Amino acid sequence: MFAVSAVRADKDDPLAALELGERPEPETPESWTTVQVRAASLNHHDLWSLRGVGLSADRLPMILGCDAAGVAEDGSEVIVHGVVGDPEAGGGDETLDPRRSLLSERWPGTFAERVRVPRRNLVPKPAALTFEQAACLPTAWLTAYRVLFDRAGLRPGQTVLVQGAGGGVATAAIALGRAAGVRVWVTSRSEAKRAAALELGADQAFESGQRLPERVDAVLESVGQATWAHSLRALRPGGTIVVVGATSGEAPSAELNRVFFLQLSVVGSTMGSREQLAALARFTEVSGVRPVIDRVLPLSRAREGFAAMAADELFGKVVFTP
Ligand SMILES: NC(=O)c1ccc[n+]([C@@H]2O[C@H](COP(=O)([O-])OP(=O)(O)OC[C@H]3O[C@@H](n4cnc5c(N)ncnc54)[C@H](OP(=O)(O)O)[C@@H]3O)[C@@H](O)[C@H]2O)c1
Repeated sequence: MFAVSAVRADKDDPLAALELGERPEPETPESWTTVQVRAASLNHHDLWSLRGVGLSADRLPMILGCDAAGVAEDGSEVIVHGVVGDPEAGGGDETLDPRRSLLSERWPGTFAERVRVPRRNLVPKPAALTFEQAACLPTAWLTAYRVLFDRAGLRPGQTVLVQGAGGGVATAAIALGRAAGVRVWVTSRSEAKRAAALELGADQAFESGQRLPERVDAVLESVGQATWAHSLRALRPGGTIVVVGATSGEAPSAELNRVFFLQLSVVGSTMGSREQLAALARFTEVSGVRPVIDRVLPLSRAREGFAAMAADELFGKVVFTP
């Protein structure tokens, strides 16, 4: 089947490690089920995999992709939850299972005509969402959902600062926060992305590092080193910074004096549980909120999507259709 894979690791030129072409059907446990992929979305995770982060050489070549929506063996329309837990772990929050992996880390991913997953990883696709929209939910949108409503515990009327407004996670947080009555402030290095964020529902948009008019209740930090100091300064005493990524580096000054003196909470968050993905899908139905898609490309043109993400040109998600 046609698929998009990492064939080696290249830290400096990740696109050089990308290969498009025929690959054998995925080999997985027999009890798993096959989904005919109708749409799959690109995440920064796929670029990290090409750089060799989280994907060891002995697992190459590896079909990339964590997210998909498609058609299950019984003909139903489904969203694929990308967190594969240990079947012995007894259920619960898969993201806390120490032996969990994401599709494309240990098992072949979704950038292919077919993907195989455990049956419990299938979540019904709301009829109101297209396959392209549904394919955006399992990583970026689920991550933003868990950050806002679980890890940061935001309530309507509170304020969240979202760093790096154009990203997949960031655009999800803007749309979800707005739909839930949370006041969303954003930063971006790009004027065009700040304008797009306001159009999407952000209350105010600031240049990266700009002083804010008042302190916020929580920060969604996915940029890391480049924005960390600003994130800490943006928080009110007792506020919460939720870290989901470190695109620009992972070794800023921790500023421990500020953390203890202002009693800040520094909280990590990874993906979300199957239950949270199902709730997110319902939330899109109830609220009418829809994933922000920058572009849809046939899988055969996946390289263009990867290049746009590597160049930070996107506002929202890239979706591939096999
Ligand atoms: N923990 C999890 O489960 C989880 C889930 C999803 C993603 N992540 C991680 O979160 C990060 C974002 O993921 P994504 O898929 O949303 O990626 P993305 O779509 O590529 O996000 C790009 C955004 O990051 C910002 N950015 C990048 N480098 C920056 C820099 N040096 N200074 C300031 N801003 C910078 C940009 O902001 P502007 O151009 O607007 O300034 C850009 O809009 C990645 O590191 C990813 O691995 C983690």
